[in-house]
Amino acid sequence: MLSFFLDGVPDPDAKPGTVQARGGKPAAGPPTYLHKPYADNNCGACHENTNDIFARAKVRQGICVECHGAALVEYPQMHGPVASGLCSSCHTAHLSQTPHLLRYASPRICTQCHELPTLSEGVAEHRSAAADCLSCHSGHGGVDRKFLLVHSAATTRPAAEGQAPQ
Ligand code: HEC
Ligand code: HEC
Ligand code: HEC
Ligand code: HEC
Ligand code: HEC
Repeated sequence: MLSFFLDGVPDPDAKPGTVQARGGKPAAGPPTYLHKPYADNNCGACHENTNDIFARAKVRQGICVECHGAALVEYPQMHGPVASGLCSSCHTAHLSQTPHLLRYASPRICTQCHELPTLSEGVAEHRSAAADCLSCHSGHGGVDRKFLLVHSAATTRPAAEGQAPQ
C-alpha cells in the first residue's frame, strides 16, 4: 500500500536536485521540465501537509495564483479558463515533457476544449490535426478576442477588397 502510493512520487526529504531521479524514468529521452518549487522540494508551498502521507496529495485551493496572480490579468482580453483560475486544465504542477509545464503539446492542449470542425474555416490550420495552435495564438489571452500573437498576413484574415487592413 505504502509503496503503491509512493510509486513515481518524489521523496519529499530528498536533497534538492535529486527529485528528478525519483520518477523512475531513465535519464535518456526527451527533457523533463521541472516546476521550480517542486525541483526545490518546496512541497509545502502547495500541499497542506507533507508529513502525513495520506494528506500529502491535498493541495490548497487556488494555489497557482498565490504565486502567479499576475497571470489572471496579464492581457486586456483574457482566455476564459485562465481568468477562471483553471490552471490545471493546461498545466501540470510537478513536471512535464512539454515546455511551459503543459499537459499536452499543441494541438491537443487546445483540442481538449475546442473541436477543430467548430473553428472558423478561413484559417487552413483550423482543419489540420497537426496544427500548432501556439504558433498563432497565445494560451492566456491577447489584445484582441482571438488571442493572436502577431497581426500579420499569416495570422490575420486578408482584409476585404477596398477595406483598409487593421
Ligand atoms: C506548485 C504546487 C505543487 C508543488 C510545489 C508540489 N505539488 Fe504535489 N501536487 C500538486 C497538485 C496540483 C497535484 C494534483 C492534485 C490533484 O489532482 O487533486 C499534486 C499531486 C501530488 C501527489 C498525488 C499523486 C500525484 O502525483 O498526482 C503527490 C503524492 C504529491 N503531489 C507530492 C508532492 C511532493 C512530494 C512535492 C515536493 C517534491 C510536491 N508534490 C510539490 C501541486 C504541487
Ligand atoms: C510557491 C510559489 C509557486 C506556486 C504556488 C506555483 N508556482 Fe509556478 N512557478 C513558480 C516559480 C518560482 C517559477 C519559475 C519562474 C521563473 O523561472 O521565472 C514558476 C514557473 C511556472 C511556470 C512556467 C514554467 C516554464 O518553464 O515556462 C508555469 C507554467 C507554472 N509555474 C505554473 C504553475 C501552476 C499551474 C501552479 C499551480 C498548480 C503554480 N505554478 C504554482 C512558483 C510557483
Ligand atoms: C488554456 C490553457 C491554459 C490555461 C488554462 C493556463 N495556461 Fe498558462 N500557459 C499556457 C500556454 C499555452 C503557455 C505557453 C505560452 C503561450 O503560448 O502563451 C502558458 C504559459 C504559462 C507560464 C509561463 C509563461 C509566462 O507567461 O510567464 C506561466 C507562469 C503560466 N502559464 C501560468 C498559468 C497560471 C497560473 C494559470 C492559471 C491562472 C494558467 N497558466 C492557465 C496555457 C494555459
Ligand atoms: C479548459 C477548456 C479550454 C482549453 C483547454 C482551451 N480553451 Fe480556448 N476557450 C475556452 C472557453 C470556455 C472559451 C470561451 C470564453 C472566452 O472567450 O474566453 C474559449 C475561448 C477561446 C478563444 C476566443 C474565441 C472568441 O471568438 O472569442 C480563443 C481564440 C481560444 N479560446 C483559443 C484557445 C487556444 C489556442 C487553446 C490552446 C492553447 C485553447 N483555447 C484552450 C476554453 C478552453
Ligand atoms: C496560422 C495561424 C493560426 C493557427 C495555426 C491557428 N489559428 Fe486559430 N485563429 C487564427 C486566426 C487568424 C483567427 C481569427 C479568425 C477570424 O477572425 O475569422 C483564429 C481564430 C480562432 C478561434 C476563435 C473562433 C474562431 O473559430 O474564429 C479559436 C477558438 C481558435 N482560433 C483556436 C485555434 C486552435 C484550437 C488552433 C489549433 C488547432 C488554432 N486556432 C490554430 C489563426 C490561427
